[in-house]
Amino acid sequence: MSKNIANWEKAKREGRKLAFITAYDYPFARMADEAGLDGILIGDSLGMMVAGHADTLRVSLRQMVYHTGIVARAAKKALIMADLPFGSFEASPAQAFEASAELIKAGADIVKLEGGAVMAETTAFLSARAIPVCAHIGLTPQHIRQFGGFRRQGKTPEAAKILLEDAKTLTAAGARMLLMEAIPAEVAAEITRAIDIPTIGIGAGPGTDAQILVLHDVLGLNTDRAPSFARAYVNGAALMREALGQYAEDVRSNKFPE
Ligand code: KIV
Repeated sequence: MSKNIANWEKAKREGRKLAFITAYDYPFARMADEAGLDGILIGDSLGMMVAGHADTLRVSLRQMVYHTGIVARAAKKALIMADLPFGSFEASPAQAFEASAELIKAGADIVKLEGGAVMAETTAFLSARAIPVCAHIGLTPQHIRQFGGFRRQGKTPEAAKILLEDAKTLTAAGARMLLMEAIPAEVAAEITRAIDIPTIGIGAGPGTDAQILVLHDVLGLNTDRAPSFARAYVNGAALMREALGQYAEDVRSNKFPE
């Protein structure tokens, strides 16, 4: 696909599905790009997948800028989306602009921020100042303290209605994409039909314009916390453990080096 977000909007109009993945480092970002992924998200999930934390709340802007630079150096074709981490954007639109500018300078094509209609003012502020925004609603992991954990959202008709209103408000504010996480498939599909911007789903059923999964879940590297909606396409952890064990064995038995 393309780094030009207008092409993503065209893909939505034409009904072409798009595939996103997260990546945090050079070799995996390069592989994702070479494999033809349309977009790569430097997610704040790196706090969990790379740093081993139980949630995303400890990730700093500095870490996001560092990893965004690495991924942007590796991926030549895919759209680069970077997360605004917890605490870097909520206080004011001006704070969000400063943080977003850091991510754009590091190589992001678009920034993602968590939150519903409350983030409309910030979304409009950023959009008017050359920062494309992807809004993230539903299960927003930066809100787990409020949600009481990683819980599916939008399950009641009232909650679903709020998500639809959030989506419309954020679109009107200038968001260029909308990510929906862990919400009922029919709610995500309805929202996708109701707005013109491309939607990206994770644990939100097949009715969104694009899908995203966390790299470590797809490659079977997340051995302890993979969510039920994820799909592992290879048992990467087993393959790599075997290779590492073989190397250690070869050293001990004088088979390496020859
Ligand atoms: O941080 C992340 O990886 C994300 C995805 C789960 C969408 O926000």
